[in-house]
Amino acid sequence: MAKKVPTEADKKMEELVSLCRRRGFIFQSSLIYGGINSCWDYGPLGVELKNNIKRFWWKSMTQDRDDIEGLDASIIMHPRVWEASGHVAGFHDPLVDCKQCKHRFRADEVNSPACPDCGGELTEPRQFNLMFKTFVGPVEEEAALVYLRPETAQGIYVNFLNVLGPSRQKIPFGIAQIGKAFRNEITPGNFVFRMREFEQMEMQYFVRPGTDEQWFDYWKEQRMQWYLNLGIRKEKLRIHEHTHKELAHYARKALDIEYEFPFGWKELEGVHNRTDFDLSRHQEYSSKDLTYFDQELNQHYVPYIIETSAGVDRTLLTCLIDAYEVENPGKKEERTVLRLSPKIAPIKAAILPLVNRDGMPDVAKKIADELRPHLKIFYDDGGSIGRRYRRQDEAGTPFGITVDSQTLQDETVTLRERDSMSQIRVKISELKDALLKRIAI
Ligand code: GAP
Repeated sequence: MAKKVPTEADKKMEELVSLCRRRGFIFQSSLIYGGINSCWDYGPLGVELKNNIKRFWWKSMTQDRDDIEGLDASIIMHPRVWEASGHVAGFHDPLVDCKQCKHRFRADEVNSPACPDCGGELTEPRQFNLMFKTFVGPVEEEAALVYLRPETAQGIYVNFLNVLGPSRQKIPFGIAQIGKAFRNEITPGNFVFRMREFEQMEMQYFVRPGTDEQWFDYWKEQRMQWYLNLGIRKEKLRIHEHTHKELAHYARKALDIEYEFPFGWKELEGVHNRTDFDLSRHQEYSSKDLTYFDQELNQHYVPYIIETSAGVDRTLLTCLIDAYEVENPGKKEERTVLRLSPKIAPIKAAILPLVNRDGMPDVAKKIADELRPHLKIFYDDGGSIGRRYRRQDEAGTPFGITVDSQTLQDETVTLRERDSMSQIRVKISELKDALLKRIAI
């Protein structure tokens, strides 16, 4: 079998995967047993970054505005949910197998009748349902069959009236949710880009029929702006509007927000006009009235839904790729730096005594203790100051605070900025506010 020559994109991804492992962002799952394909674990820095991204999204949806409520629905739902949603009948990918090397591909990703890996003959396409099945209770029988949710959205639809009542919202309003989703993808890959277990950040916005197109345009703008606020470079983002052929069964109109990954332009988030499809279907399958009474119109109707559906892991990968830079490669001044926005950086500031004597570690530890309740900081006195700065640059830490001999005289420290490497002197008493101002979300 011919070995594939690694491309520039492969090399960039390899560098990033290696940095993620080295610095404790992301590890392959179950590595001591040889790993398991497409499953990844987030390490100390990874989980901080992931939580910060989720917090940034959650705040933009449920705190900065008053028309969206939060929800955390269960992963296992009544199996009828997936009949109503269309997933049992339609959540399939066509797959083909190579008769020779037995590798499996998505039929729509193979352009020739022969295997892309070995040139062997391929089988006819077969439909493969992407939902994971499992059993509830002790007896593995059909009656107890359930699915792990392939999207979080359905938990929102079935709770539409539960949320509406207590929150006293009126249309238009939304429900936001962050949680795990599971898909038995045929071709997972590209690190955490496509996994079988991943997290989604979904928001369903309920609107009056007839106003759906204007709300679709509104959410398109809002969601694009969110990625810009996250610090993603504008020129690496674009919108791909779905053609009629590309539309999912539930959508009247849809677009993807795409990012230019090393392996090409790929979907980061979907914005969909789902019409009244979801609530109508759940109304039909559950025989429960899911209409909304609009007091202004004095009329009952099934609301239309505009959905914004983002992947947590994909957003995290985007942040890492967009922030990753090797300055002066191959030269003495080579520096690997993750230019993560201070809003989402895992560690906000490193506290560093210049040398391990003259009482500097004591002063630095005291500063660390004072700052710790307010922001995620890291105290480090191991190795040369240059090496310590470099370690933090690779971890994406936006600020370094150094205690030096001047500190002992005038109670000031240096505040080093990761991207420019510029340094200013700040009074210890003003440090907390100076940092909080720079990292505020
Ligand atoms: N509720 C609509 C929905 O789930 P989708 O386009 O299938 O729409 C939305 O998924 C987002 O979820 C994607 O844009 C992507 O960010 C993320 N996503 C989907 N499948 C994924 C996978 N296998 N691994 C990682 N993220 C995934």
